[in-house]
Amino acid sequence: MRILFIGDIFGRPGRTIVRERLSDLAKNHRIDLIIANGENAAAGFGITPSLAEEFFDLGIEVITTGNHVWDKREIIEYFQMANGNPHSPARRVLRPANYPSGMPGWGLYEGKKNGVPYAVMNLQGRVFMASNDDPFRVADQLLKDVTAKVVFVDVHAEATSEKISLGWYLDGRVTAVVGTHTHIPTADERVLPKGTAYVTDVGMTGPYDSVIGVKKELVMDRFLTNMPARFEPATGDVRLCAVVVECDPSTGHASSIQRLMIQ
Ligand SMILES: [Fe+2]
Ligand SMILES: [Fe+2]
Repeated sequence: MRILFIGDIFGRPGRTIVRERLSDLAKNHRIDLIIANGENAAAGFGITPSLAEEFFDLGIEVITTGNHVWDKREIIEYFQMANGNPHSPARRVLRPANYPSGMPGWGLYEGKKNGVPYAVMNLQGRVFMASNDDPFRVADQLLKDVTAKVVFVDVHAEATSEKISLGWYLDGRVTAVVGTHTHIPTADERVLPKGTAYVTDVGMTGPYDSVIGVKKELVMDRFLTNMPARFEPATGDVRLCAVVVECDPSTGHASSIQRLMIQ
């Protein structure tokens, strides 16, 4: 089974490159299942139900998010729509599983693709981020009830140490642990000894003539003056960053992880 995971899709430039390139990419890499992080899809801040459904129409099966999930309030009603219906499209948009209990939405999705059961889990780190529940123990808890062998984990976190620790912690228990959130791809992709594919950050899918997606002048100005500024998405040097993970569907163990950056 070959899984494509696309890093944080940022604003219109990110959405456009995904729309233009995804079908060829999926064909060339013989992809069976597509997952994407969509927390920055709406002009860099959050995701709306209609943008989520545009991604579903392109063949993305599950959308993960992170700290920007609540930026567009409509997503809360969307999550509420799914209540009681495990097959609602709203159920296939995740927010990190280790958010305080009782929050709208879910951090785990279990589905089936071409007859193969799979699960997607979304976690958020706690280092240099909001103090949510412990992602390590929340992952343990969720894995107790997951029956699928193929389990794909998006660790949305700032600190490289926290991400690689989660990779080692989950090694052999999940198919892949891939990092998102920093919008900077890292070159450390590998399959850990017990069969979990790992990369610290997949990188952003969006404009790289920017500071992590935002117009660079606005961010430099923030650093220079400490004055608040309204951040706007940049437009130039658009790239699609993703990884392809190959795994054995009968064991869920990964055999390879390949990093992609398409311009
Ligand atoms: Fe992001
Ligand atoms: Fe983020």
